[in-house]
Amino acid sequence: MSRRPLIAGNWKMHLTLSKAIELAQTVVTTCGKCTDRDIMIAPPFTSLAAVVATVRGSSIHVAAQNVSWEKEGAFTGEISPIMLNDLGVSMAIIGHSERRQLFGEDNDMINRKLHAALGAGITPIFCIGETLDDREAGGTLSVLETQLRKGLEHVTPKQLTGAVLAYEPVWAIGTGKTASKEQAQEIHGFLRGLLTGMYEKNIAETVRILYGGSVKPENIDDLMAQPDIDGALVGGAALNAESFERIIRFR
Ligand code: 13P
Repeated sequence: MSRRPLIAGNWKMHLTLSKAIELAQTVVTTCGKCTDRDIMIAPPFTSLAAVVATVRGSSIHVAAQNVSWEKEGAFTGEISPIMLNDLGVSMAIIGHSERRQLFGEDNDMINRKLHAALGAGITPIFCIGETLDDREAGGTLSVLETQLRKGLEHVTPKQLTGAVLAYEPVWAIGTGKTASKEQAQEIHGFLRGLLTGMYEKNIAETVRILYGGSVKPENIDDLMAQPDIDGALVGGAALNAESFERIIRFR
């Protein structure tokens, strides 16, 4: 089956309000009416409402970079999926390696966040990835399998349909080192195989698997030509209007 490509920009902790609005406007100009690919941008929480307003009327999706597993309550500093939904945010990045490594998120917390997002009608972009140590120790596949199985615990086939998985090898994030197209395809094929075993082939086939880690204009075309690479989760290169435009217009 054919999956519609998704090009996603994770702005991380960058851009003040006015800069975020400016960049969102350029994305709308680039691909605000595209029908053959989906575009998502994930600004910091402080710019979410303004960016939702900026892209209104276009086909651009807006995502949060994180979400709480709680609906509401005494959880200082947290943002619930219900609040995101209310804002017009349709997706949330969950389990990014920076959240795992720097803010102590584990597979159990990520699983709870996935359930919370799904329950509120927010599409999760569920991130997994191995570290350089994992890879050098030959542990890549087992680390990814554990992250995938634990993250998706009790997620039903219906919930998984149309969800988005992102493979982001930690050693490729912000380092300029991209996984080669062969390395990335091998992992994406492996992940789709796992999903097929955990669910069913026709469900696994609906899941878009994005590659992330030093995606740039120079490597996007090769990556997107791989059969199991359905899009990209872009960090640094998504902050520059010109390079993100070239990535959106992959050939
Ligand atoms: P870079 O594209 O800057 O390597 O970041 C990737 C990433 O972490 C996207 O979520």
